[in-house]
This record gives sequence, C-alpha cells and structure tokens, in this order.
Amino acid sequence: MNLEGKTAVITGGAIRIGRALTLALANEGCQIFIHYGRSADPAQETREEARALGVEAEIHQADLANDQEVKGIIPAAAKRFGHVDILINNAAIFPETDSFRDTDTALWNKLFNINLRAPFSLSQAFARQLPNSTQGKIINILDARGRRTGQDHFAYRLAKGGLWQMTEMLALELAPDVTVNGVALGAILPPPGAAQTYLDQMAQTRVPLKRAGSPELVAENVRHLLRQDFLTGVIIPIDGGQFL
Ligand SMILES: NC(=O)c1ccc[n+]([C@@H]2O[C@H](COP(=O)([O-])OP(=O)(O)OC[C@H]3O[C@@H](n4cnc5c(N)ncnc54)[C@H](OP(=O)(O)O)[C@@H]3O)[C@@H](O)[C@H]2O)c1
Repeated sequence: MNLEGKTAVITGGAIRIGRALTLALANEGCQIFIHYGRSADPAQETREEARALGVEAEIHQADLANDQEVKGIIPAAAKRFGHVDILINNAAIFPETDSFRDTDTALWNKLFNINLRAPFSLSQAFARQLPNSTQGKIINILDARGRRTGQDHFAYRLAKGGLWQMTEMLALELAPDVTVNGVALGAILPPPGAAQTYLDQMAQTRVPLKRAGSPELVAENVRHLLRQDFLTGVIIPIDGGQFL
C-alpha cells in the first residue's frame, strides 16, 4: 500500500509509542486521527507536529473503558476524512496490580475492556465503514509476553494473548479486503515515570541482545507491515530475543 493520502486512526496516538506511530505515518503522508484519553495537551502538541509534516491531523477524546465512546471513534474519523483506511490499536493499560491474587473483578473488567474489547469494537466499526473494493489495514500493538506463561501481569498477559489470537482470527475473517497484523513488543520504553536506566539495566540481564528497543523501531516495523499487501496474520516480535 502506498500510504500517502490514506487516513489512519491511532488509539493513544498522543504520547510515547503512539506518538511515534502518529509521526511516522504523518511522515508517510497519511491523514491522522489521533485518539487520546487523558493526554489532552500532548494530543494537541502531537497534532501540531503532524500538521507541521504537511498532513491533516485531528484529535479525538474517548475513554476506551466506555464502549459507547469507543464506538464513536471510527464514525467521527470517517465523518472528518471520508473513510478510514488504517486502524492502529495501540492504547492499553499496564497495571502493576494485576497478579492472579490481586486482580479483582473491577480491575479485570477495566483491563479487558480497554485492552481487548476496545480493539474488537474498533475493528468491527472499521470493517463496517470501509467502502467496497477499498483496501484496509489493521495493526495491533501486542506484548511479546502475550503468548508466554509467567506469574507477573496475569490479567494483562491474558488480554494481550486474546488480542494476539484476535489478530490471527481477524486476518482470516476480514480477508481479502483487510490485512490484520501486529507487533509484539518487549522492552521498548520504561513505564511512565521510570528512568531509561531502569530499562537499560533490565535489558542487560534479560534481553539476549542486551539493549532496549525504541518507539522509532516499533514505528519502522509498523510502516513495513502497512506497506506489504501480501502479509496478513503476521506478528513481528520486537523484543531483542527476550521471549524466545
Ligand atoms: N512500553 C513498552 O516497552 C511496551 C512493551 C510491551 C508492549 N507495549 C504496548 O505498546 C503499546 C503502547 O505502549 P506505551 O508504553 O506507549 O503505553 P503508555 O505510555 O502506557 O500509554 C498508553 C496509551 O493508552 C491510552 N489509554 C490508556 N487507557 C485509556 C483509556 N481508558 N481511554 C483512552 N486511552 C487510554 C493512553 O492515552 P492517554 O494518555 O491520552 O490517556 C496512552 O496513549 C501498549 O499497547 C502496550 O501494551 C509497550
């Protein structure tokens, strides 16, 4: 796919990895619809950065825990830009308190609603609005942990594992019009508020390549998946070998 002139919706597109995806696609000439939750000021700044790259860009607030608000995102983008060609499900929460023993029903519901139900509802709305004979692309931002067992982040792993499987299921379901691919991330950025040194030290001991990735590396791989028309159901691990 030639990305120039295509319209992309990026959830959580204002900050961190989402921001890198926004700017990478703006650089390719995409019109950008930046979804954000709480990051209103960063969303405006990222929109201005995207516009400075010569493309049209809008921002849209929605709480992904609220299905009604989620269902409004794609129609709002389609109203502004005609239709949406690309959906990137990037937004997610990563709580510290979701071990098996600590996860209560409220946290379970919140985590699954944001990390799995929202990508489902968005994918459904995306597929429904795509005009006939138009090629669409969905990219899911996964976690390399999502296919592995482990005792940390019990609910998060399950929800990301579900999104992994949904990526493959939708690749079949939505073919031939829409390709559905993903990237499964390892150590890319430290948690919000933590120092880069925290991640670098962790990478020295746990990542075979002994270094962390970067949002730009994620964006480069997403761009590759978007350009390829014969790839679907493909998940690229970007983890330096950590989850082999
Ligand atoms: N960082 C890593 O090294 C790493 C590793 C593995 C996987 N990942 C995956 O990569 C993706 C991006 O990671 P990140 O570290 O950049 O994430 P992050 O800094 O935690 O940002 C999360 C994003 O999700 C949005 N969000 C969360 N809850 C929301 C809600 N209820 N309603 C609306 N938006 C909501 C936030 O938007 P607002 O700020 O506007 O609310 C924010 O843009 C995630 O899917 C994550 O699981 C990241």
